[in-house]
Amino acid sequence: MLLDFTYYNPTRIYFGKDSLASLDNELQNYGDTVLLAYGRNSIKTMGLYDKVMAALNNAGKKVIELAGIMPNPTYDKMMEGARLVRDNNVSLILAVGGGSVIDCAKGISVSAYCDEDPFQKYWVQFQDIANKVVPVASILTMVGTGSEMNGGSVITHEEMKYKGGRVFPVEVYPKFSILNPEYTYSVPQYQMVSGVFDTMSHLMEQYFSGDDSSTTDYLIEALLKSSIDNARAALKNPEDYESRSNLMWNATLALNTLTGLSKPQDWEVHIEHQLGAYTDCAHGMGLAAISLPYYRHIYSYGLDRFVRFATEVWGISPKGKSKDDIAKEGLDALEAFTKECGIVTSLKELGATEDMLPKIAESSFVLEGGYKKLSKEEILGILKECF
Ligand code: NZQ
Ligand code: ZN
Repeated sequence: MLLDFTYYNPTRIYFGKDSLASLDNELQNYGDTVLLAYGRNSIKTMGLYDKVMAALNNAGKKVIELAGIMPNPTYDKMMEGARLVRDNNVSLILAVGGGSVIDCAKGISVSAYCDEDPFQKYWVQFQDIANKVVPVASILTMVGTGSEMNGGSVITHEEMKYKGGRVFPVEVYPKFSILNPEYTYSVPQYQMVSGVFDTMSHLMEQYFSGDDSSTTDYLIEALLKSSIDNARAALKNPEDYESRSNLMWNATLALNTLTGLSKPQDWEVHIEHQLGAYTDCAHGMGLAAISLPYYRHIYSYGLDRFVRFATEVWGISPKGKSKDDIAKEGLDALEAFTKECGIVTSLKELGATEDMLPKIAESSFVLEGGYKKLSKEEILGILKECF
């Protein structure tokens, strides 16, 4: 049954090979000064930096640059951007990059005019926004997080060893996002498959919760199947436009609130955030490592849904098998897919050391939306299994 809902997503998406052309028109809607936020090298080596700069110059904008936003963006980097925005009266933050750059841009947006410690206020205490918010827009170059069409902002406070995720309300969503699948051709395979698993994890986090069957569940199954098929095609040919475009749009749809609409959700696998706080690992890789032991630990509490996952997503034949066997085969298929893609599922390989595990478990969140509420000891057990 679909629970009652209100659905509204304000981000305007420009999708396709010529989507950058829409930047000229969009820039007319904002004031004189733009903060151009980006990562380390990729936008320059792929030639995108020059194109974006040309559009900004043509529009007569004064450009302030925030370069070097790192994967798992830090509080310090965010505050560097916040100071630039306030000191220069910036009217638009244009994020060019992956989830880290866009998340950082949203963090800058809410922090620039915050008179208190924004991290405490917004990422620790989850308070409502009580200050001016600066508009954000994005040009996406790495696929997976869905940050281009949502309010998510994940910021790492290095001193606190805390990677805090916050979903901000619609005023912080990007005003517009430009999605050109060709920009993702240069993403290294390691990052690409990490992004694919991130997309799949967002879908599974929303799927593995509740007993009802709604249109949302069917949507999720379709997006999972599309992600699996198109990841295989993109692995064979990284410049296959069709598969790259499907992967890009799947990731956006997987976390723009559509596929979580009107149903309970889990999100326990995203204890990965604390793993990231300790190891700085690629987000999707950490999710993959945790997912398999986690789902094997809880599947029997949501058996019918795991059976459906096996038959509908992975095409497992149910003939002559117990529900338990079918569910296990589905999870085996998920594991085989991670191996096929070269996804790293060992925490050790992702940079964790054994002494970190209790600290990660202790600082991780325990949620109640999944099929089984975990204790901290169970979280530690799961981390040890994927160590
Ligand atoms: O720094 P550069 O040189 O740009 O390199 C980046 C970076 O090293 C590279 N890259 C990006 N586009 C490229 C490219 N390399 C070559 N060609 C291109 N076209 O990719 C690397 C990773 O980028 P990053 O932005 O860190 O990846 P991702 O998009 O996976 O973002 C991860 C961050 O998003 C958070 C994660 O926790 C993590 O901090 N998440 C945000 C969410 C949200 N906003 O809703 C939800 C997610 O669950 C996630 O937690
Ligand atoms: Zn994620």
